[in-house]
Amino acid sequence: MFTMLPSTNASRIIYKKCLRITKISSSYSTVTSSKEVMDREKKYAAHNYHPLPVALSKGKGIFMWDVEGKQYFDYLSGYSANNFGHCHPRIVKALQDQSAVLHHTSRAFYSNVLGEFSKIITELFGYDKLLPMNTGVEADETACKLSRKWGYKKKNIPKNKAKMIFANDNFWGRSIAAISASTDPLSYEGYGPFLPGFSCIPYDDLTALEKAFQDPNVCAFMVEPIQGEAGIKVPSEGYLKGVRALCTKYNVLWIADEIQTGLGRTGKRLAVDYEHVKPDILVLGKALGGGVYPVSGCLANDDVMLVMEAGTHGSTFGGNPLGSKVAIAALETLEEENLADNAFKMGEIARQTLREKLNEEIVLEVRGKGLLNAVVINGELADAWDICLKMKENGLLAKHTHDDIIRFAPPLIINKDQLEESMDIIVKTINSFSK
Ligand SMILES: Cc1ncc(COP(=O)(O)O)c(C=O)c1O
Repeated sequence: MFTMLPSTNASRIIYKKCLRITKISSSYSTVTSSKEVMDREKKYAAHNYHPLPVALSKGKGIFMWDVEGKQYFDYLSGYSANNFGHCHPRIVKALQDQSAVLHHTSRAFYSNVLGEFSKIITELFGYDKLLPMNTGVEADETACKLSRKWGYKKKNIPKNKAKMIFANDNFWGRSIAAISASTDPLSYEGYGPFLPGFSCIPYDDLTALEKAFQDPNVCAFMVEPIQGEAGIKVPSEGYLKGVRALCTKYNVLWIADEIQTGLGRTGKRLAVDYEHVKPDILVLGKALGGGVYPVSGCLANDDVMLVMEAGTHGSTFGGNPLGSKVAIAALETLEEENLADNAFKMGEIARQTLREKLNEEIVLEVRGKGLLNAVVINGELADAWDICLKMKENGLLAKHTHDDIIRFAPPLIINKDQLEESMDIIVKTINSFSK
């Protein structure tokens, strides 16, 4: 093969360094201790996260192991992507089988899997069509684009005047569009300028929503049925019904971001099922890819979905055969293993145990639904980060969201014995912070 040789001295040095790296690449895997793993990651990977100091090398079911072989309960589930636990045989098999046959085609062509996936998911959730993407933020952004276009084509909003409403403390990812809707300075500070046409109102506030809808240029309201990253904020009963009614009354699309709450996490197939309401656009992600592959998408009926014409939106990998097969396996696992029911039952036990046994001085509130729960820590007595560190030492991995909230979201396959054992660790650890 013809290789261009670098011309300047500086580029020759870089070129030689690269050559050296290819020669020593086989030694990359000789890093064996947790410390070495962490040091290497810190040196070569960007510092846009602040991980707990644990270096994981294996996962199975509800457990993970660090490189020294210590076992941990997984109480984060990869931010709710691992609803089915680690290495679920059915999901791994789907990944392996399909990757050996046809993994990626792009949607320049038809594949024999995307239609199958789309039929299964639309029938399961009761929509006409699926628009497949990969990550959550892409699917949410797709929902924004869909509703803007719907606003122009169906609601006759004047060109470039469409407005979208979001709730304070929303979280839907890290793109410029997502942070333009964010009220959290940690997300948006230093990244401006931001997108116009977005505004925020308080969460769980129907009066504020109705006021915002007085503007005829509003095309959509996007909201999480339970706010996940905000700290598992559960709205009042009736809020989602109210959102549905107001969106219908004012001809505004309701986008439900169920990327974190969906697929059994909150004890129902969808969190909106608690109030028997149906959003105009349903957004799913995370667990849709079974924790092994990024799969996300928007579901909507034809009156909304068909406003997008060919060539006006897309994604290289969205809807690829590999992701589609994995998503089918994830949905089948959810249904056949009754994981929403299990999450409901285990969640009831978890919250009851935490409410009964946790020291009330340290834990100000226990909240959540199904297996999406959180405790609010009294910051004067303890620090959520320190508690997470201590839980790690005691064999359980959970992560705080904000300084005073710890989320508890184990895989939905957890059984009663495992739940009780892990609750014991949580209760003992948190109560050990009593003065
Ligand atoms: C409700 C919600 N929407 C969207 C996202 C973004 O998903 P992703 O990180 O896959 O882009 C998240 C991620 O935590 C989320 O919780």
